[in-house]
Amino acid sequence: MRRMTTPAAVIVDAAAYAQAVEDAVRAAAAYYEGGTSALDDDTYDRLVRGIADWEAEHPDGILPDSPTGKVAGGAVEGDVPHTVPMLSLDNVFSAEEFTAWTASLSRRTGREATRFSVGPKLDGLAIAARYSDGRLTRLITRGDGTAGEDVSHAIGTIEGLPEKLDEPVTVEVRGEVLMTAAQFEHANEVRTAHGGQPFANPRNAAAGTLRAKERVYTVPMTFFGYGLLPLPDTDSVLAEKLNELAHSELMALADGLGVHTSARTAVPDVVAETVDEVLDRVEGIAAVRAELPFGIDGIVIKADLAEDQRAAGSGSRAPRWAIAYKLPAVEKITRLLEVEWNVGRTGIIAPRGVLEPVVIDGSTITYATLHNPADITRRDLRLGDHVMVHRAGDVIPRIEAPVAHLRTGEERPIEFPAQCPRCGSDIDTGEERWRCAQGRNCHLVASLAYAAGRDQLDIEGLGATRVVQLVDAGLVADLADLFTLRREQLLALERMGETSTDNLLAALAKAKEQPLSRVLCALGVRGTGRSMSRRIARYFATMDHIRAADADAMQRVDGIGAEKAPSIVAELAELAPLIDKLAAAGVNMTEPGATPPPPAGAEDDAPAEGGPLAGMTVVVTGAMTGKLEKLSRNEMNELVERAGGRSSSSVSKKTSLVVAGEGAGSKRAKAEQLGIRLATPEEFAALVAELLD
Ligand code: IVH
Repeated sequence: MRRMTTPAAVIVDAAAYAQAVEDAVRAAAAYYEGGTSALDDDTYDRLVRGIADWEAEHPDGILPDSPTGKVAGGAVEGDVPHTVPMLSLDNVFSAEEFTAWTASLSRRTGREATRFSVGPKLDGLAIAARYSDGRLTRLITRGDGTAGEDVSHAIGTIEGLPEKLDEPVTVEVRGEVLMTAAQFEHANEVRTAHGGQPFANPRNAAAGTLRAKERVYTVPMTFFGYGLLPLPDTDSVLAEKLNELAHSELMALADGLGVHTSARTAVPDVVAETVDEVLDRVEGIAAVRAELPFGIDGIVIKADLAEDQRAAGSGSRAPRWAIAYKLPAVEKITRLLEVEWNVGRTGIIAPRGVLEPVVIDGSTITYATLHNPADITRRDLRLGDHVMVHRAGDVIPRIEAPVAHLRTGEERPIEFPAQCPRCGSDIDTGEERWRCAQGRNCHLVASLAYAAGRDQLDIEGLGATRVVQLVDAGLVADLADLFTLRREQLLALERMGETSTDNLLAALAKAKEQPLSRVLCALGVRGTGRSMSRRIARYFATMDHIRAADADAMQRVDGIGAEKAPSIVAELAELAPLIDKLAAAGVNMTEPGATPPPPAGAEDDAPAEGGPLAGMTVVVTGAMTGKLEKLSRNEMNELVERAGGRSSSSVSKKTSLVVAGEGAGSKRAKAEQLGIRLATPEEFAALVAELLD
């Protein structure tokens, strides 16, 4: 993993050191108590490194509450003592630091090679779950590591932590409690509906939820076990076994008892025999991080064997046999400066947050999506607020929540537009996403330019400038008008000579022959992009069948659920006059090679679709070469589907084949990681040869 070590904060004197310790202690307390810290994780890590640097130079001036010497979190009176301390982990930030750590580990174990167990570092809270004869009796937070808070009231709300194990054993299971992305969304919905402030991120939500004793509502969380140890009452045979098993064996045992572990995720703990194997796995986990349904902030690498762990021993804060390889932070706190309201091609008026620029994982972020006005109100966002911004992988950055305790009183309310900011028409506020009353006619230029684009009707010579010209001249008021343009009308326009006119007319004539999937996509039905349009068109085969479909029928299309189906049906009804007009202008309304679906109830008899890729899910990545060189990504996906396959943009266990061209990066790495079949563009061309030319 090519990554620079996160630079430490620079501390210049004892006063700055004392301030840094105070800031870090406050941030750590907020972190462990479920509040939102004023420091994001990255800033906190840098601060602690700066503190450690200063302490190395000034060993006599170390303050007792420095975060470097102590287990994170603090014990409160009345806490339950841990039988074995619940330790924290030291961090490394680069391959070099990791390699150096393995060298020191080897010195301690006296062995050259170590068997490692490598798994995700789950971004939640540590918890100890005590089982007595297989029954879950007590849940305890980490606290200061020697004693923690009793949170047994949460029993029954944590998925993956069964109230009864599959065997009647007395053991302590340790692991992380967190909220998956879906659980977090749900928790914030429920919380704001009860008048609460939304949590800034899943971690805070889990911390706050775990400690809340008297809530009128419960929201689910998820547990991942990463440790299994005996309790004083454990029978001696089992106790000895637990003390002797390797970490990987303990996890298999936990899984067998019914405890949820990483084994059931896309990033299971694996055993690695060499440093290179560990680093490969680190890369593999980092590559899929953005797509995981739960947050991870690194990778934990442990000496797998009990004897190695014993030989390495533990310090007061962290074991010497395990290390956290931190991944770059995906969240930073910055300020929300403005909110812009942009009208999209379908008339949706979408708010976008303008941020004080902030660097997240190497990119400077200045904008973040805000979903809709209701969401802004629900989260009580204000201009000038400090906000938690999340950006993972290629996903568009989003604002998670305001950091309410950093408010100064200077924050201003966000004003919602009363009229469409583009055309001044009324706004339809009937749904969560506001829409200009003019619908897709509001931003006609954007909607026509989209329809003419390469992946839709592919009308050469009809760029945005020409579209503006046509609209301004009053020649085009909707998509269908393009197809009834006359030669003399075009010739009368400025900068339209004979050649340009004839070329444009020829391109329009060609566009009329595009397959239904592209016509549908050009219509810009909300919620249906290129791949969904292809699926709908292939399923129904003709526009008449699409229009005849009710929500139930629409749901038979792969990827369309109960929520999306009615809105697609409603929007197609809204588009009916335009579709009629397009059909009357001679635009093709059928999908070549597709057959209409059998009537409802008869699907089971339908023959499976054939083709060289039948039943396969295919991901295309990198630059295509050879016969496929000229094909856009969309055209490649069309080819996959014509060959009977399903195209997808992300690699997962369900992927059957990855076509990796030149420069393929993380998707190729992920395919290798998951052992998925890879093909070069040439090999793929041979596979679908019957459909080429
Ligand atoms: S092992 C004594 N494994 O990260 C070894 N910890 O920053 C301690 N964590 O205190 C734990 N995922 O709360 C381990 N797969 C994993 C983990 C993990 C997350 C947490 C744990 C720990 C903290 C240290």
